[in-house]
Amino acid sequence: MSQLQNLSLTDAEQASANAELFDLLRIPSVSADPTRVPDMRRAADFLQAKLASLGFIARVEATAGHPVVYAERLGDPTRPTVLIYGHYDVQPEAPLEEWLTPPFEPTVRGGRIYARGSTDDKGQAYAHLRGAELLLKQGELPLNVKFLLEGEEEVGSKNLEPYLRDHAEQLACDVIVISDGSRFAPDVPTVTYGLRGLSYVEVHVQGANRDLHSGSYGGAAPNPINALCQIVSQLKDESGRITIPGFYDGIDEITQEERDMWAGLPHDDAAFADSIGASGLPGEAGYTTLERLWARPTLDVNGIWGGYQGEGSKTVIAAKAGAKISMRLVPGQDPENITKLIQAYIPTLAPEGVQVEVKGLHGGQPVKIDLDNPYVRAAGKALEQVYGKAPAFTRGGGSIPIVAAFRDILKAPVVLVDFGLNEDAPHSPNESFAVADYHNGILTSAYLLQALAQAE
Ligand code: BES
Ligand code: MN
Ligand code: MN
Repeated sequence: MSQLQNLSLTDAEQASANAELFDLLRIPSVSADPTRVPDMRRAADFLQAKLASLGFIARVEATAGHPVVYAERLGDPTRPTVLIYGHYDVQPEAPLEEWLTPPFEPTVRGGRIYARGSTDDKGQAYAHLRGAELLLKQGELPLNVKFLLEGEEEVGSKNLEPYLRDHAEQLACDVIVISDGSRFAPDVPTVTYGLRGLSYVEVHVQGANRDLHSGSYGGAAPNPINALCQIVSQLKDESGRITIPGFYDGIDEITQEERDMWAGLPHDDAAFADSIGASGLPGEAGYTTLERLWARPTLDVNGIWGGYQGEGSKTVIAAKAGAKISMRLVPGQDPENITKLIQAYIPTLAPEGVQVEVKGLHGGQPVKIDLDNPYVRAAGKALEQVYGKAPAFTRGGGSIPIVAAFRDILKAPVVLVDFGLNEDAPHSPNESFAVADYHNGILTSAYLLQALAQAE
């Protein structure tokens, strides 16, 4: 196998890569916010124009939701084809007051680019556009390259799966590359080979037909907030196991090989707890922290409401209460089935006098990716070239719902090469992306295109 050609970024290239990313980050493309529909279109147009300027055939394609940006630069059909996926939509910026600098005014502090979407996923996705650009400066791309950049990842990608089905031929490829997660640690380049799935439900509890005086009625009337707390507290037992009947049925157990591999990673519970300012790391008994994060399902209340929230006290028994619950799933679990199981179980936990409704909001399939293919080895070569060491192989705790559809519809292997870090604080206020990680992402992308072209 021939060697990868040495690559670097000049100061001018770094500056222009930064300036372009900043322009993209200034567009508040929040997919969940209906008032930002024009911004979504602007972000898609921006990416289309950039890809067109690189000589790609590039278009913005309508879906039932936010548009998809598709681009291709095809040469020799005997060469492999890579499809690079990313998303240009971002999470809502709230709570705005916690941002030190405005979320859509990218600002560099201490070597980090602070902006919503900087790491998730505009910065990581844009690194691939600049990676292709870097190779194009030296001549033709060494393989066929397609880009698929969507605008609905943060809201569940529901229109992308039909798009894949309708455009399966256009999207045909030998390998899919995604950079939309976190590498293991600053000095540990990573290939991620698993993502958790998701089942997300909302629980509504109704008691009386109106809020009630807690003296006149307390002791007799049903209390939906108490009922909700009772329900939630029964969803896990004392050892941290989820009590939903059938929840764990069919789960792929962690292999001994994975246990050993993860045990060898430089992880320290105390430092991990410290990194989030928490005093402990509660979870399911019998599993290490990394096992719990990557290979065990979870159930977490993500939001809860009911009753009086204002200043001081108000003696009232609320008529209703509610909660949002996310369950992260692992291979062997099916999101639709899990939603059905919790919908059947929660009503059995409800105390007398309340009505409970469990609504399914959205879901995503879990994935575990086979590492034994030449494209994963190519990713290892590219990372080694940039970081001077071979990558670690980890799974990720988050979800990218479309990955399972890539596997099932496009039938090509997926390679997850993550440029970010958990400390980038994706989804949080003051999200950031290290400038060095962005530049290393560009180099990794360029090396990866070279290595994939040689893969066999
Ligand atoms: N980039 C993340 C997924 C991710 C995060 C992968 C961390 C690996 C490590 C993605 O943008 C995301 O936030 N996904 C959502 C999916 C949901 C909205 C269906 C998630 O995981 O909550
Ligand atoms: Mn993302
Ligand atoms: Mn995200």
